[in-house]
Amino acid sequence: MRVAVIGLGKAGLPLAAVIADSGIEVIGVDLDEEKCGMINSGKNPIPEETGLDELIRKHGGRKLKATPDYEGAADCDAYIVIVPLLLDDLKNPDFRILESAFRGVGRILKKGDIVVLETTVPPGTTETLVREWLEEGSGLKLGEFYLAYSPERIMTGYSISRLREFPKVIGGVDEESGRRAYKLYSKFIPNLHLVSNARTAEFIKVIEGCYRDVNIALANELFKIAEELGVDFYEAREKANHEYCHIHLPSTGVGGHCIPVYPWFLIREMERREKYDHARLLRVSRELNDEMINYWAERVVLECMKVNKPLSEVKICIKGITFRKGVKEIYHSRNLALAKLLAEKGLDVGVYDEMFTPEEVKELGLEWREPEEADVVFDCFELRLDK
Ligand SMILES: NC(=O)c1ccc[n+]([C@@H]2O[C@H](COP(=O)([O-])OP(=O)(O)OC[C@H]3O[C@@H](n4cnc5c(N)ncnc54)[C@H](O)[C@@H]3O)[C@@H](O)[C@H]2O)c1
Repeated sequence: MRVAVIGLGKAGLPLAAVIADSGIEVIGVDLDEEKCGMINSGKNPIPEETGLDELIRKHGGRKLKATPDYEGAADCDAYIVIVPLLLDDLKNPDFRILESAFRGVGRILKKGDIVVLETTVPPGTTETLVREWLEEGSGLKLGEFYLAYSPERIMTGYSISRLREFPKVIGGVDEESGRRAYKLYSKFIPNLHLVSNARTAEFIKVIEGCYRDVNIALANELFKIAEELGVDFYEAREKANHEYCHIHLPSTGVGGHCIPVYPWFLIREMERREKYDHARLLRVSRELNDEMINYWAERVVLECMKVNKPLSEVKICIKGITFRKGVKEIYHSRNLALAKLLAEKGLDVGVYDEMFTPEEVKELGLEWREPEEADVVFDCFELRLDK
């Protein structure tokens, strides 16, 4: 048995490494030739991923070979696709990367092969678009090949342990596909659960993100109310939380490729179906979280007004620009958006982040500033304003 993993990114490479570590031969396909070269020579292109170094050193170029050409994976029996799905400017899913990956797989697909999608997608994608791309590309019909969906549920930095411990679900577009996909994944995923179909598996992953987004929005709203009422939110939260109440932590909003993206899959689909009332809470929560930077901008400005200087001369330091502490990733980072918002208003803003160099910060169009050099420091992760 040989398994191909299409897309060797932060999600795909740890999965490919775990499959190789279970004794299965893996061919990784990734358009990035440099990355393929590194993997083949046993070097880990994602050093911040715990435990990945060791697996790539052990299997890179041996049990795990990487290639930029789909044809290099032509004699595999299973194809696992895990490339990004982003939103376009109107928050609709942009399927171009996914389509090109499946057209690539379609060219090399043979009778009896199984294809599993892992990228988070709007429910229904695997049984419609993916099936269509594969059938068109291969000339085969479903039944001659098998198709399933199993969402990646890793957390960057802890992917290997997540794959080995966290429950993972899998569902086929038909019964036989589900059965075969479950059998395949059981070889390398210990905590695996077969669900009714691919659409259910897709929905499971999307609603997990929605739950987080809505609850973070609730925490943000309650935080603002607590401040208004002169209540210590954190003290109240600690005593309010128990088995049936889990109030999340407030923040500057929600960033990254996952949580702020997935609610849109459902919001846009309900809009297409003119079921506007079905996704109202999801939409409001998205807005509430994205607008938290306005709240924090006001708080920063109020703090600046306490400094004995004209407002435009007060030196502000925004500390922490990544979307999450400890992860060098700025996609949809609200911390970065906050810094840009304050700079646009003409304030003297600099940023500091221990994961970035001053040069990297400059490339983002912002100034570097050490906290000690500032009059007002806002710590985006601690939500603390200091002078
Ligand atoms: N990173 C996470 O924490 C995480 C968590 C859960 C789910 N996911 C899912 O994984 C998906 C991928 O995320 P990621 O973090 O691995 O992305 P990434 O940007 O780190 O990696 C994507 C990789 O795909 C490659 N690629 C792009 N187009 C390709 C193509 N046509 N053929 C072959 N390779 C191609 C890129 O070169 C890159 O190496 C996400 O869209 C999400 O659905 C990610």
